[in-house]
Amino acid sequence: MSEDINPKVDLRDRITARVNQGLLGTWYAVAKSVQVRGKKPFGVMILGRKLALWRNSDGKVQCIEDYCPHRGAPMSLGNVHSKGLACAYHGVVMDGNGVVAEVPALKNCALEGRKAISSYEVYEQSDAIFVYIPSLSRPKAPSLVLPVELTDESWGKFLCHSIWECPYYYALDNLADPMHGSYLHGQSFTLAYGSKQDTMKLSKIENGFRIEREHQENVNFDYTEMIVDGTQIYCRLDIPYPPAAGPGGAFRIIGYCTPIDEKRCMVFFWRCRHTGSNLALQSWRFLYRTTLEARHWHVIEQDRVLLEAMPLNANKRELLYQHDIGITRLRQTLARAARDQLIAEDAINAEGGNA
Ligand code: FES
Ligand SMILES: [Fe+2]
Repeated sequence: MSEDINPKVDLRDRITARVNQGLLGTWYAVAKSVQVRGKKPFGVMILGRKLALWRNSDGKVQCIEDYCPHRGAPMSLGNVHSKGLACAYHGVVMDGNGVVAEVPALKNCALEGRKAISSYEVYEQSDAIFVYIPSLSRPKAPSLVLPVELTDESWGKFLCHSIWECPYYYALDNLADPMHGSYLHGQSFTLAYGSKQDTMKLSKIENGFRIEREHQENVNFDYTEMIVDGTQIYCRLDIPYPPAAGPGGAFRIIGYCTPIDEKRCMVFFWRCRHTGSNLALQSWRFLYRTTLEARHWHVIEQDRVLLEAMPLNANKRELLYQHDIGITRLRQTLARAARDQLIAEDAINAEGGNA
């Protein structure tokens, strides 16, 4: 059988493509809350899809395809309207369900009331907006159970958001690789400590895995937990901070990486501390804003600059060693999820074909 008609080879390529484009049936962080406000909508691209977001009169964020069904103008160039979003070109108003709410230029236009474009489910929490990108096998959004650090008031947090000119899976690989902390960030405020040599250990945790240094704990960036729970992908890691960095113990990072397209991504890092009392929270917030934020940005910029400088096909020509077991596990996990999605979609398509 030649390669191009071998279904196994074909499935392998489709799995790679699905992982590279971003899993479907998944919630993604798409914007900071402050980016969606006022009379102008906010346009964003994720997984190669253009979306338009705005707030309705109740302040609830709405999300539709960034495409006017009349002639294709981007809805994100329009204006927020009492019934939805008004297109800048001829004023057609689309509501939050992707239904034509009004065609102001023509009385009793038959397009009114027609569902014409896609709409997306939205969830807002901890200064960020999440959008569900459906899959054929799961068109309706499952509930999004965010990490406790984002939902519990006893955690103080700041959201740091950036666009990186690299594939989202480079950003995820980077997070599944604690050892780079001792090298790439070796000169930074908190990551200069500890040994520069170790072996790594991998263990299973609920909905994911943990990668950690075998001989060092609570010294540097010593572990990452990667969560791939079937509805979202995120990581959790700790950076121990000296007492001079204020109350709340280790500096915890909750990270989400969202593909924009196959070459770019958005990263959302919540920098959290378990401050508990309001006084401790206020004092940490002050310290963070005045001193720590600039240092943290410096570290994140080191990641960005390095990842953006890597060639796009670096994972085709790499020599992994023991430390990379977290990266390997992450790739296997994403590939398995992609495979399950594709098989479920194929079954639905086959059923449709047989019907
Ligand atoms: S293209 Fe949007 S109203 Fe005409
Ligand atoms: Fe880093």
